[in-house]
Amino acid sequence: KLVNGFDLMEFATKNGYILPAFNTTNLEMTYAIAEGLSDAGLPGYIQISSNNLRLSNPKIITEIARDAVRNLDVPIGLHLDHGKSFKDVKDCVDAGFTSIMIDASHLSFEENINEVRKTVEYCHFYGIPVEAELGALRGKEEDIVNESDSKTDPDMVNEFVTRSGCDLLAISVGNVHGLDITPVIDLPLLEKISKISPVPLVLHGGSGIPFETIRNAKKFNLIKINYGSDLRKEFIRTFGEAYELDHNAHDVIHLSMDSKANVRNKARELVTMINS
Ligand code: G3H
Ligand code: ZN
Repeated sequence: KLVNGFDLMEFATKNGYILPAFNTTNLEMTYAIAEGLSDAGLPGYIQISSNNLRLSNPKIITEIARDAVRNLDVPIGLHLDHGKSFKDVKDCVDAGFTSIMIDASHLSFEENINEVRKTVEYCHFYGIPVEAELGALRGKEEDIVNESDSKTDPDMVNEFVTRSGCDLLAISVGNVHGLDITPVIDLPLLEKISKISPVPLVLHGGSGIPFETIRNAKKFNLIKINYGSDLRKEFIRTFGEAYELDHNAHDVIHLSMDSKANVRNKARELVTMINS
């Protein structure tokens, strides 16, 4: 059974644990993520972005995720990542997602608060926690490209969290989306925000951040970190290599099985390393 996001948050807060949230794109990755977490014996999230819902609608992904966790002993939640619209939020909650992000960070401060507030009112009615974002990351997250970042302003954090009612806060402190830019985490800024924020913090753009930095950030109330590119790279690598070797390579079944195994290993490695 998929676990409620509030329960995952409570586990992380109580145990000084960082929950990995792994982006899935398709069925194979979804199973691989669940199995990787199970191999490590550690909890986390399967997450899917609003963008990715064009390929796999909320009902389908919920069924796949439910099946993927059916016989596993570790707590796993299903999270909407970078929720784009209230419609996506509603569709995901109604389908059975157990945790939600609404990303209105590109809007003005007031509009961001309003969007999050509306999402919180809906999600809390169903007992689902809401992640919101303040500030913007550099880099590429599927089809959103940001040339520059805008770091989270600590002076706005308390008002943002209090008025929006969000349960988790995603921040911009030098973390980047994708593998093209090297992230440089501003730990003093993270520390400053952690002292002000009434809710636990989330880092997007986990791929490429040194494990040591992440483990260090645990004391700054970081309880969730997102991994997308690292897993997508593992998934696609096998196909790319096979195609390079032989342009007639088309044994999709075996290639998919290999890709799935690579993603599973990567997920196990990441969750273990950030919590070791
Ligand atoms: O929301 C998804 C993550 O922030 C993924 O970032 O692809 O750099 O790991 P990443
Ligand atoms: Zn992200």
